[in-house]
Amino acid sequence: MIKDYIQSHQQRFLDELFALLRIPSVSADSRHKADVRQAAEFLFQKLKDAGADAVSLHETNGHPIVYGEKIISSSAPTVLVYGHYDVQPPDPLDLWTSPPFEPVIKDGNIFARGACDDKGQVYMHIKAFEAMTRLNQLTCNIKFMIEGEEEVGSDHLGIFVKENKEKLKADVILISDTSLISLSHPSITVGLRGLSYMEVEVTGPNRDLHSGVYGGAVANPINVLCEMIATLHDANGRVTIPGFYDRVAELTDADRKKLNAAPFDLADYKKDLSIDDVRGEQGYTTLERTGIRPTLDVNGIWGGYTGEGAKTVLPAKASAKISMRLVPNQSSQEITQLFTTHFQSLAPKSVKVKVTAHHGGEPAVTPTDSKAFQAASDAFVDVWGKAPIPTRDGGSIPIVSLFKKELGLDTVLMGFGLDSDAIHSPNEHYGVKNFLIGIETIVAFHRHFSKA
Ligand code: BES
Ligand code: MN
Ligand code: MN
Repeated sequence: MIKDYIQSHQQRFLDELFALLRIPSVSADSRHKADVRQAAEFLFQKLKDAGADAVSLHETNGHPIVYGEKIISSSAPTVLVYGHYDVQPPDPLDLWTSPPFEPVIKDGNIFARGACDDKGQVYMHIKAFEAMTRLNQLTCNIKFMIEGEEEVGSDHLGIFVKENKEKLKADVILISDTSLISLSHPSITVGLRGLSYMEVEVTGPNRDLHSGVYGGAVANPINVLCEMIATLHDANGRVTIPGFYDRVAELTDADRKKLNAAPFDLADYKKDLSIDDVRGEQGYTTLERTGIRPTLDVNGIWGGYTGEGAKTVLPAKASAKISMRLVPNQSSQEITQLFTTHFQSLAPKSVKVKVTAHHGGEPAVTPTDSKAFQAASDAFVDVWGKAPIPTRDGGSIPIVSLFKKELGLDTVLMGFGLDSDAIHSPNEHYGVKNFLIGIETIVAFHRHFSKA
């Protein structure tokens, strides 16, 4: 029995996951390049140990991609599992209650950077695979593709996918890198937002100036940047970039009703975040604002003096990182262009503005009428005793639309995290319960999918 296997090996599963979590595989930080590789090598070995064949580390110009497969029969369906072993930077470090790369279990949760996003969720697949091979219950072909650059835009995965279409041939992509509504309301993600990530720099005078000698007569780049940013939303919370909403797919009233029927408690939501009110585009609910509406947010802003005490300076430069979340049928490239043109046009003559684009990605909607979705739904019914609710998540996994475009494959987003798991934040965690029930649900998915 799968359940018995998971139970009797649970401690080892957790010990192994802890070993993976101890590796600080921060893809954004070049000082961690060797650590990122070490995480790849760790997974390479664990895939082998679990019984995978053709396990390889594919080198890229960035971080390596781990591949492995088990082909049991050419007539069996093939599931391609995708995940990422890289993690977000852990800072601000002082807000962690335990060090980010020293995993510990507190109140049933594993605390560590990457515990949920995505090492914990990737590892469920490897352990589900191990259980199926050991118990002779593998009824699907299975392929693993685990990358180390998801958190920095998957720059080299696209090339790998394009160059390895035959190797990656499959019937469906399976990803656990999203969240559930709650442990009592299982859900499957059927929509992800896209992304356009920008950086802007406003330059004023050719050097930092005394703010008394020059203040009031020379444009202050921080003041100007703030003014420019402030105009990017109108009083109704809508983004003011011309053309921004032109392609946005509007949902029918019936579909909006369905989306809003998902369990959601605004009071709990506010309480969890210690906020007195929510804020967003007028005319839409919170679930709609994160699920089906595009947004613009400043992710970071800097310039001038931020050290101890006071320094009266009129700085020469100010910068900000600004990202936009996109929905079907917006195009990341087009929105990047619209932003660039508009932001440039906002600048007064007294400053110069430079706009650069970082990574982007397209939104995705996955089908609910496919055999794979049905198999995932049946898996939840088996293990959780409840059918999962389809949800639209606000985060982005740009690779999902690339899989569709390059491999012609649909994805099932069977994630087991919770929104409260603090991914990308201090004290990221993942429920031991989620980890174990996830393994069981993944096994059930494979069982149902091979029958489908
Ligand atoms: N796993 C997340 C995306 C996610 C989280 C989707 C929660 C749905 C629910 C992923 O690792 C991530 O963080 N993606 C980035 C985009 C990427 C291009 C850096 C994001 O959404 O900011
Ligand atoms: Mn992730
Ligand atoms: Mn992430």
